[in-house]
Amino acid sequence: MHTVSISHVAQHVGEEVKIKGWVYNKRSSGSLFFLIIRDGTGFIQAIVAKDEVSDKDFQGCDGLTQESSLVVCGVIKADKRAPGGYELLVTRIRPLQIAEEYPVSLKKHGVDFLMDQRHLWLRTPRQAAILRIRHEIISGIRDFFDNRGFILIDAPILTPSSCEGTTTLFSTDYFDSTAYLSQSGQLYMEAAAMALGKVYCFGPTFRAEKSKTRRHLTEFWMVEPEMAWVDLDGNMELQEELVSHTVQRVLEERKKDLETIQRDIGRLKDIKPPFPRISYDEAVECLNKNGVQFEWGNDFGGGDETVLAEQFELPVFVHRYPSNIKAFYMKPDPVRPEICLSADLLAPEGYGEIIGGGQRIDDLETIMRRIKEHSLPEEAYTWYTDLRRYGSVPHSGFGLGIERAVAWICGLDHIRETIPFPRLMNRIYP
Ligand code: 4AD
Ligand code: MG
Repeated sequence: MHTVSISHVAQHVGEEVKIKGWVYNKRSSGSLFFLIIRDGTGFIQAIVAKDEVSDKDFQGCDGLTQESSLVVCGVIKADKRAPGGYELLVTRIRPLQIAEEYPVSLKKHGVDFLMDQRHLWLRTPRQAAILRIRHEIISGIRDFFDNRGFILIDAPILTPSSCEGTTTLFSTDYFDSTAYLSQSGQLYMEAAAMALGKVYCFGPTFRAEKSKTRRHLTEFWMVEPEMAWVDLDGNMELQEELVSHTVQRVLEERKKDLETIQRDIGRLKDIKPPFPRISYDEAVECLNKNGVQFEWGNDFGGGDETVLAEQFELPVFVHRYPSNIKAFYMKPDPVRPEICLSADLLAPEGYGEIIGGGQRIDDLETIMRRIKEHSLPEEAYTWYTDLRRYGSVPHSGFGLGIERAVAWICGLDHIRETIPFPRLMNRIYP
């Protein structure tokens, strides 16, 4: 007998099949048991009728608890009234392990409790749907770059230096010296872009963020493309194509999961290039016009980003920030050196910055000066400054935070549900 996954039962109507899964819910009425079984791909109602199975199998159903594992055989029947449209008329049922009393019941629980039970919480329909959408986002992003001639380059996790400022570095003993967990693969991608042209890395990054917000994790995943011979405009064009492609891919492939999490997809449907672009100067004006007291030279907080994004239906680029509030490698604007050729992409609906990027400094003198101004240890950056010694070219890149993108596309209140096992300032369990 074939083992089928629940997501494929439609192709087996009328056949007797085997399903391997777990008990999600159970109720009984006299000579019938109604089991909701899940197998990771979906849910199906299994009907165990006293007359259709052995006495031993029927009695065994009595002891089945939530999340007990089992193998059931039965005939697939189409039934419009059944959740999902199909039922399993059980012929045989073999419990594998009877689960102890399950902590995550089908009632509502508090978030702290659920976070402690994250290893079990993942089994609930909503969390499983989010993880499937996360998978789709990642695979959509990978396909996007792979189909455009980008080469995947893995950046190191243990690094001798910082990329995004020294205040959020995690350090660890590295034999007789100190290493830092990577905040970003960017500097290595710059080296790889000079070797291969168009590259990207996709991996975990780490920041000792001392803020407890809805948008910050201490461990998050980032995709970071880097391109030789591309300027700030070309960089933004690639971003809007990437983001549109990814959103449309999720809408096409994960309709059911979006329904499960009750995402209102009205605004996602319209995510198509071009995205609006405003300068930092214009953004400051816009905030002031909207009653937010904001001084030129400061960095935007989450609330400021929300006000800015609310002015647009699409994600919006804010470009040319003051150099002082951006990382050391940002290329100064040739006309106004106090601002730089950076751009952040702010998502709609209050999700804030999902991408940070820009054009990089490409001349030796300026990069050396910036390293000094940021009080970075020059020796640790010798390899990086070499890139400006040997055939330097204009180049640009960006970093898209996967969890920020998942939060927006899924419409989640908090970033903690976007990653299987979130790492937050006050959480490293489970
Ligand atoms: O703006 P950031 O710091 O840019 C960089 O790291 C560049 N080196 C990227 C590059 O140009 N290659 O971070 C990029 C993105 C942010 O826009 C955000 O989406 C995400 O990474 N991010 C975080 N996501 C979750 N938790 C955090 N603590 C994050 N910090 C940044
Ligand atoms: Mg940023």
